[in-house]
Amino acid sequence: MGRSCILLVLSLFLWLCLFPNTISAQLRIGYYANTTCPNAEKIVGDAVANKYNQTFVTVPATIRLFFHDCFVEGCDASVIIASTGNNTAEKDNPDNISLAGDGFDTVIKAKAAVDAVHGCTNKVSCADILAIATRDAIQLSGGPHYEVELGRLDGLTSTAASVEGKLPKPTFDLNQLNSLFANNGLSQSDMIALSAAHTVGVSHCNRFADRIYSNPVDPTLNKTYATELQSMCPKNVDPDIAINMDMNTPRIFDNMYYKNLLQGEGLFTSDQVLFTDSRSKPLVIAWANSSPAFQAAFVDAITKMGRIGVKTGKNGNIRRDCAVFN
Ligand code: HEM
Ligand SMILES: *[C@@H]1O[C@H](CO)[C@@H](O)[C@H](O)[C@H]1NC(C)=O
Ligand SMILES: *[C@@H]1O[C@H](CO)[C@@H](O)[C@H](O)[C@H]1NC(C)=O
Ligand SMILES: *[C@@H]1O[C@H](CO)[C@@H](O)[C@H](O)[C@H]1NC(C)=O
Ligand SMILES: *[C@@H]1O[C@H](CO)[C@@H](O)[C@H](O)[C@H]1NC(C)=O
Ligand SMILES: *[C@@H]1O[C@H](CO)[C@@H](O)[C@H](O)[C@H]1NC(C)=O
Repeated sequence: MGRSCILLVLSLFLWLCLFPNTISAQLRIGYYANTTCPNAEKIVGDAVANKYNQTFVTVPATIRLFFHDCFVEGCDASVIIASTGNNTAEKDNPDNISLAGDGFDTVIKAKAAVDAVHGCTNKVSCADILAIATRDAIQLSGGPHYEVELGRLDGLTSTAASVEGKLPKPTFDLNQLNSLFANNGLSQSDMIALSAAHTVGVSHCNRFADRIYSNPVDPTLNKTYATELQSMCPKNVDPDIAINMDMNTPRIFDNMYYKNLLQGEGLFTSDQVLFTDSRSKPLVIAWANSSPAFQAAFVDAITKMGRIGVKTGKNGNIRRDCAVFN
């Protein structure tokens, strides 16, 4: 072996040690085309469309589930595992992440549809089904269409403890957001692009109550908007009450998220700070003004997010039941 070859091997080894989460060489667009289940993406897409026909919640619930899956132990469907007598799984962590049941149901239904087709039974990972379903949910609600990279295996662990410190809080400032996303190999612009997922879906009142009931009210909030929020979320409100995060087009995956920020209508501190901090403000303005620029950045960022902590070889398998280890 030549000296340069040894150097190459050494530096590759060092790189893998430094950035273990970036191992993703095996992900490919059209991965299932050459398998015994060539129509996997179509089968999942039909199941998602069916579920979407029943409830719009399919869209935000699935997108958020994918985000939480990727940020905790990588995109390996570990978030879908149900707790058992001797293991409290990720989804039931004390941090109370309130993932909507329809996201789990979307994956379970798509998995059943895939497994019912000859040649597909136990050939498509739950992690890939979630990635495909997220892509389809975004498109169904008017967002960009993109080719999704596939070839993930399902993870072998899921613990509530592993969630600690992995998910962003709505009170985060720009430095906190940047450092948490950087831990996942994502840049500030990726973070700004991905935050636009808050253009669909809802939040419970307690997640932003501190902003509207502080004295004074958070000065970065639009005054009219703050009053509206107070009337929809009175003090001591029923904890089950949730409101649309994008008041203007809550069911369209568009760049309204950024337009809202320009008006002081970001729901969380972590949303509005993208406009108030001069480091992130230029991109917020650019994407408020250009839907194509936003869509291109979003597709790029969610593709990168889909590469986080991908499992291969003996580090994963294809689960028979997405909620239970084999
Ligand atoms: C940047 C930091 C982020 C913070 C602090 C944050 C925080 C939150 C919070 C507090 C909620 C409301 C949960 C509830 O009350 O039930 C929420 C909802 C949601 N988040 Fe995020 N999030 C962030 C980034 C993301 C990203 C990157 C995505 C996806 C790409 C995402 C997708 C969603 C969706 C779709 C919902 C609505 C869920 C539903 O309606 O069921 N979020 N987020
Ligand atoms: C599928 O197989 C064809 C022919 O062998 C090859 O050209 C193509 O790159 C393969 N596609 C994928 C996604 O592996
Ligand atoms: C959804 O509902 C519409 C109208 O009810 C119908 O035309 C369409 O075929 C349905 N799509 C699916 C996938 O069930
Ligand atoms: C957890 O309990 C199940 C039965 O409920 C058992 O099959 C499994 O081996 C146990 N796992 C561990 C890690 O103890
Ligand atoms: C959070 O957890 C508390 C109890 O720990 C529960 O009463 C409440 O419904 C949960 N809230 C959400 C939004 O899941
Ligand atoms: C507050 O929102 C209203 C209505 O969307 C808008 O006309 C106004 O310009 C906003 N105020 C500020 C300070 O952004």
